[in-house]
Amino acid sequence: MRKPIIIGNWKMHKTTSETIEFLKQVDAVCANLTLEAGVAVPYVNLAVAKQHAKNLIIAAQNCHYEDFGAFTGEISVDMLEDLKITHIIIGHSERRQMFNETDETVNLKAKKLLAKGMIPIICCGETLQQYENNETQQIVENQIAKAFQGIDLEDAKTVVIAYEPIWAIGTGKTATAEIAQKVCAIIRTKIAALYDEVVASVIRIQYGGSVKPDNIKELLAQPDIDGALVGGASLEPQTFLGLVK
Ligand code: PGA
Repeated sequence: MRKPIIIGNWKMHKTTSETIEFLKQVDAVCANLTLEAGVAVPYVNLAVAKQHAKNLIIAAQNCHYEDFGAFTGEISVDMLEDLKITHIIIGHSERRQMFNETDETVNLKAKKLLAKGMIPIICCGETLQQYENNETQQIVENQIAKAFQGIDLEDAKTVVIAYEPIWAIGTGKTATAEIAQKVCAIIRTKIAALYDEVVASVIRIQYGGSVKPDNIKELLAQPDIDGALVGGASLEPQTFLGLVK
């Protein structure tokens, strides 16, 4: 049985005091959930968020693949580990589109995190143009193959994949549950081809892109969707609780 995992991706939202206020309202209410839930907060708020979260996962939104060095503005995996951060989003489409993230850097980051026993949330997904050209399968399979290159079977089982069609992110356009399921099934089949049926049956695949309290149930009811990566709807305490409850 795969345990569902819902992560709010706060992107560049919330000051430190707003982060504390959110967690004061939400964290205690999230005790005894049957699923894993959390929020990915900006770097500057990771430490304080950890202090205020007993039940929620506090995730990071990125990391660098080098151990240390002259990389102004970057954060190493050791720094995240020292803060007891366990989950790290990598390869988000916004980072691919605006900050030069590539399949190669996603792979390097995934390997670095897995070597530390940390959990990469690897994002993949096609653009609107690729979707309209019927290239979704090819694009997503290619992203997955490259992201998992050189990752061994045991490590692969621990990874979380987030399928996020770029045309559905922040646009209010959700992929229908049917489309999301179809692509998540393609991803699972690809994992079976890269590894085996066991890895494919345990690896968790989230859907992301305009997930809201009123559509999450149908999405998570799909056989190959094991959770959600949620942007906008994760920012307000009540909507976040609407997602996880
Ligand atoms: P959205 O963002 O829920 O606001 O569409 C999802 C994401 O980018 O992870």
